[in-house]
Amino acid sequence: MDPQQTATGKDPQTAARMDPQTAAGKVLWHFSMSLDGFVAGPHHTMDWMTGATFRPGLVEEYAGTTGAVLGGRTGWDAYPDPGGIYGGAWQGPVFVLTHHPEDAHPTPGVTFLNCDVAEALRIALEAADGKNVEVFSPTIGRQLLERGLIDEIDLHIVPVLLGDGIRLFDNAGGAPVRLELLVGSDPRAAVDVRYRPVRSSDGTPPPDRPGN
Ligand SMILES: NC(=O)c1ccc[n+]([C@@H]2O[C@H](COP(=O)([O-])OP(=O)(O)OC[C@H]3O[C@@H](n4cnc5c(N)ncnc54)[C@H](OP(=O)(O)O)[C@@H]3O)[C@@H](O)[C@H]2O)c1
Repeated sequence: MDPQQTATGKDPQTAARMDPQTAAGKVLWHFSMSLDGFVAGPHHTMDWMTGATFRPGLVEEYAGTTGAVLGGRTGWDAYPDPGGIYGGAWQGPVFVLTHHPEDAHPTPGVTFLNCDVAEALRIALEAADGKNVEVFSPTIGRQLLERGLIDEIDLHIVPVLLGDGIRLFDNAGGAPVRLELLVGSDPRAAVDVRYRPVRSSDGTPPPDRPGN
C-alpha cells in the first residue's frame, strides 16, 4: 500500500467479498499495484495512483492491524517521512534495511538496520507486538518469500498500465511461485477483472479505429 495514500470514494464491487485484514502477528507484503504488476513508476514515481479510489474503511483497517513497517533504503530515500504512512493514519515503529545505516538521517521512530533480512523481520515482529508487520519493499519481500517468511500478499490493483517502473516481483529466470487465493472457496481460482482504456473526456473513439 502506498504510504502516502488515503482511502476515498466508492466501494468497488470487486473488493466487497474480501474478508477484513486481521492483526495476528502476520507478515504482509502489502501494495497498491498497477494492473501490469508495478508498485512504483520509473524513478519511484507514485503519481500513477492519483485519482484512484479505495474501498471505504481500507486505510483504517490496515492502520489498525499494522504493528510495524519494514522497508528498504531506496524506498525510504525516495519518501523519507514516516508521517506519510497511511496518510498519517498510522504511527508506529518503522525499520529500514540498508548496508550503510551510518549515512542515514536520524528520524524519530525509524530504525536503520544492517543485518540479515530474517533478523530484521524478527526485530520488526517483536516491535509489532502481536499486530502485523507490513513489508513495504519489493526487494525485501522477495528475499522473505524465498525464505518462506511471507504470510500473505495483499494487493490493491489500480486501474492503470505502467509498462515501466519497479515490479512487485522481479525474479528473472526464477521458478514460478505458486499462490493460494484467500478470497472465495477455490484457492486455485483465476480472478476475473475487466477494464477498458480511458478515452478522451468527450467520448471520441481513438483515431486509428476502423471506419474513422
Ligand atoms: N505501491 C505501493 O503500495 C508501495 C508501497 C511501498 C513502497 N512502494 C515503492 O517501492 C519502491 C521501493 O522498492 P525497491 O525494491 O526498489 O527498493 P527498497 O526495497 O525500498 O530498497 C532497496 C534497498 O534496501 C536495502 N536492502 C534490501 N535488502 C537488504 C538486505 N538484505 N540487507 C541490507 N540492506 C538491504 C538496500 O539498501 P542499501 O543500498 O542502502 O544497502 C537496497 O538497495 C519505492 O519506489 C516505493 O515508493 C510502493
